[in-house]
Amino acid sequence: MSRNSETPITAAIIGAGVVGGYHIKAQAELGSNIVIFEPDSRRSQAVADQYSGQVVVARTIEEAIEQADTVHICTPPMCHVEGALASIEQEKPTIIEKPITHNLDEAIEIYKAATKADVPVMGGMHFRLTPAFLKMSEGLQEEEIGTVTSIESNYVHDMRRLKAGVEWRQRLGQCGFIYEGAAHAIDLNIWLAGQPVDEVQATIGSKKVCPEYGWSEDLNFTLVYEDGTVGRVWSNAAAPLPQHGSRVTVYGSNGAYDAHNKYPFLRTYRDGDSDWSTEPAEVGQTIRPMAALFHEYVKGERDDFGPMPNIEEALKVMIVIGALERAAKSGRVERIPTLAETLAAH
Ligand SMILES: NC(=O)c1ccc[n+]([C@@H]2O[C@H](COP(=O)([O-])OP(=O)(O)OC[C@H]3O[C@@H](n4cnc5c(N)ncnc54)[C@H](O)[C@@H]3O)[C@@H](O)[C@H]2O)c1
Repeated sequence: MSRNSETPITAAIIGAGVVGGYHIKAQAELGSNIVIFEPDSRRSQAVADQYSGQVVVARTIEEAIEQADTVHICTPPMCHVEGALASIEQEKPTIIEKPITHNLDEAIEIYKAATKADVPVMGGMHFRLTPAFLKMSEGLQEEEIGTVTSIESNYVHDMRRLKAGVEWRQRLGQCGFIYEGAAHAIDLNIWLAGQPVDEVQATIGSKKVCPEYGWSEDLNFTLVYEDGTVGRVWSNAAAPLPQHGSRVTVYGSNGAYDAHNKYPFLRTYRDGDSDWSTEPAEVGQTIRPMAALFHEYVKGERDDFGPMPNIEEALKVMIVIGALERAAKSGRVERIPTLAETLAAH
């Protein structure tokens, strides 16, 4: 895919809510032409007013996609499949906000369509682009802390604070926080482990401390990787903290890493040192770097969009999430089917 890199690309943003707004801002800063499809006319008008001259408002999803070089699906998770399939049908490189879908069946549908049409699709797990997490990932590849012994990741939020999208969040159901919150921590754990998950266990607490959030609040997961490494994922939806987000701690045979995506440093411990060392790391909204990465890819300035997940990697995370839901219900250890087994069963 090679384009004249001086020519601005046109990005279609499907769904101009809170997160769509971040995607629009990112594309405006990148100098792209922007077309949006947003069924709420007050919202689309507000965007058109804010970005006067830079945003075209389309009447249908198809019309928006037709005009675009790249498509960003920023609708509620239960609408992702509709937008993603429409975009793939028109062979447009597509970013799908996290979670790529709200169930495995729809994720497989998107995977099959994208693979058949050979259309690049990126899963919107942009916490990976947190500078401290990227440094961790690089250090792990160089075995800077030796052999990994354990990975802990969390995602902690106070869901009472979220006023937008309350209606669609209800439709995610009792285990909805797996998809809208814990998914970040699950993805980070799997990405940093860099190997397949073999089996999982899940405990979802029944205690309610936050009646305004109608669903399960405390989620605890164990991921057992192929080489026997254990990943621990904890997520809570009812924690009134100054900053919501993800903390990751990786323990290795020669040291450890510790960072949070909202705190501007990475802590590293090296075996034999008397204390952790702290190095500065930038913090900030990671939707902007995700958009920039895909932008470069679409312009032909890079061959891939690693470390962001392609549709196969994103589907593998969805397979794990599906197994975690089953494990929470059954109380048993659930084996993770391979991609081939999953596709054969659907
Ligand atoms: N990556 C992150 O950190 C992060 C954070 C929050 C939300 N999200 C995800 O981003 C997506 C959007 O979340 P949000 O918080 O912006 O929600 P939101 O409710 O603020 O926005 C969704 C928008 O989509 C529009 N919409 C609904 N159905 C549509 C359809 N069929 N076609 C086009 N537009 C439609 C709605 O009118 C609304 O404006 C969700 O998948 C959510 O899980 C990601």
